[in-house]
Amino acid sequence: MVFADGSPDADLMFIGEGPGFHEDKQGLPFVGAAGQLLNRLLADIGISRQDVYICNVVKCRPPGNRDPLPDEIESCKPYLMEQIRLVDPKVIVTLGNFATRFMLQRPTAISRVRGERHPLDGRVVIPTFHPAAILRGGGDASRQMDAIRADFREMAAALDEARTSGPRVEEQLGLF
Ligand code: URA
Repeated sequence: MVFADGSPDADLMFIGEGPGFHEDKQGLPFVGAAGQLLNRLLADIGISRQDVYICNVVKCRPPGNRDPLPDEIESCKPYLMEQIRLVDPKVIVTLGNFATRFMLQRPTAISRVRGERHPLDGRVVIPTFHPAAILRGGGDASRQMDAIRADFREMAAALDEARTSGPRVEEQLGLF
């Protein structure tokens, strides 16, 4: 089982699809090539991997890296819901279609919703491309790379705003 990596106190949570070969071997999410790209994108906006929380929709590697099946997503759902509840992040970034559909609860294409802030239960969900999709290349790879960079900047801005707005004075004083 590949559960999570990073800080349980993080304000920023990343949700991927499911472990791949290297993640399965090491028991940690995003340690292969997609993880290297994730680390680089984070470094570009001045955030270190140790300060964020990283997990996946499904906790075990789908054989042969196939897409996770609906019943696998359903079985892992209580774990992910509890991870969100306990870490209590201000901003959740969903990487790729599976995590985005899980969080937004609708069948949507990542290209339609990426980079937008979706308010959800007092948090902000920002979908973006899965780093592995960019690494697979193809005609759109450089446009997708520009897009994911822009989404990471948006994510940093959303995080700054959420941190500076903070709890209301009444809440800080314990009046409510
Ligand atoms: N891709 C994912 O979605 N998750 C990982 O942990 C690694 C690659």
